[in-house]
Amino acid sequence: MTGKDNDKSFIEVRELSKHFGEFVAVDAVNLRIERGELFSILGGSGCGKTTLLRMLAGFETPTSGRIFLDGVDITDQPPYERPVNMMFQSYAVFPHMTVEQNVSYGLQKERMPRNEIASRVGEMLALVKLEDYASRKPDQLSGGQRQRVALARALVKKPKVLLLDEPLAALDRKLREHTQFELMNIQDELGITFVVVTHDQEEAMILSNRIAVMEQGRFEQIGTPKEVYEFPCNRFVADFIGTINTFEGVVQTSGEGEITVASDECGHSLRAYCDTPPRNGSDICLAVRPEKIYISQTEPDNDEDSCLRGVIEDFGYFGNLSLYRIRLETGKVVQVSAQNRRRSTERFLEWDDQVFISWRPRSAVVLEN
Ligand SMILES: Nc1ncnc2c1ncn2[C@@H]1O[C@H](COP(=O)(O)OP(=O)(O)OP(=O)(O)O)[C@@H](O)[C@H]1O
Ligand SMILES: [Mg+2]
Repeated sequence: MTGKDNDKSFIEVRELSKHFGEFVAVDAVNLRIERGELFSILGGSGCGKTTLLRMLAGFETPTSGRIFLDGVDITDQPPYERPVNMMFQSYAVFPHMTVEQNVSYGLQKERMPRNEIASRVGEMLALVKLEDYASRKPDQLSGGQRQRVALARALVKKPKVLLLDEPLAALDRKLREHTQFELMNIQDELGITFVVVTHDQEEAMILSNRIAVMEQGRFEQIGTPKEVYEFPCNRFVADFIGTINTFEGVVQTSGEGEITVASDECGHSLRAYCDTPPRNGSDICLAVRPEKIYISQTEPDNDEDSCLRGVIEDFGYFGNLSLYRIRLETGKVVQVSAQNRRRSTERFLEWDDQVFISWRPRSAVVLEN
């Protein structure tokens, strides 16, 4: 093993920026991606995802900053010299070519010997499960199959890094879920490092080893799906990933990894654990996911938990779970989700029912202002 193999950051981005005139599309980002990782860049429309990916591929020149691949500074290398391939947001397959011709095109341009091309293309078509479709034209394929042609075409040159810009955006939900797993299997099989751009947080959670949450050209948080979901570092991330209830308040007591928070919004004081408790008197926000909240018709007899009283204002039945909107006496609405474990035509809870909602101190995330 060489020293390089031991170095875990395969792609390293240092203080990378892209300005378009006055506009800052990517703002001095730093990033380390490990070899073989499936890394997602997640963010809303216009936050700079495609621009960042285009800089990694070499299609966009950075305003400042450097990009390293496997220890080599590739910032000034043209796209065709980089061992990187990009699958574009509007993946284009050549309409006049068959599936096989689409996939072999890049290799033919490289003048690879014919028999080698045939075996490599066969291997790729098998990988994306399109062996039986080799002679079809793109307009004779479904959206998902076309997507897989684009993927095979991007993979056929065996790049060290594959950049995928919204690879599944054109697919319907079912096909998308199916293709997500295929993508993960393919990545696992080939060991190629994938950088996937998406604006779909569920997709990022399912696919990725790690996620960078991007906003206005910057990374708000980089972490595993679990880290960004369970331990969002700020309000933006908490809000962007999944649904979360936030309770504004002031720290009343603080010590030993535990705080109590006076929250006018819910007319009650709340408890939370945190490693580095903020000082007394600080304005903070407690964030609690709907699935961490228990709902009951009798008052829970556990005085450790934070407990609030309210009425059911609204609820939705989603088959496997129900979502409740609970209005507190102060008027604040809290979202609670509960698994539907019982099979019954009778509803367990109804509109206007008085309920108690409670959660463990550890379930609340402390977000400082
Ligand atoms: N060539 C350009 N000239 C000027 N502004 C640009 C250029 N390319 C991108 N931008 C701007 O930079 C910002 C980031 O664009 P980018 O395409 O990276 O966004 P994105 O995160 O990929 O969004 P989406 O999810 O909609 O694809 C946008 O506000 C866009 O208008
Ligand atoms: Mg984009």
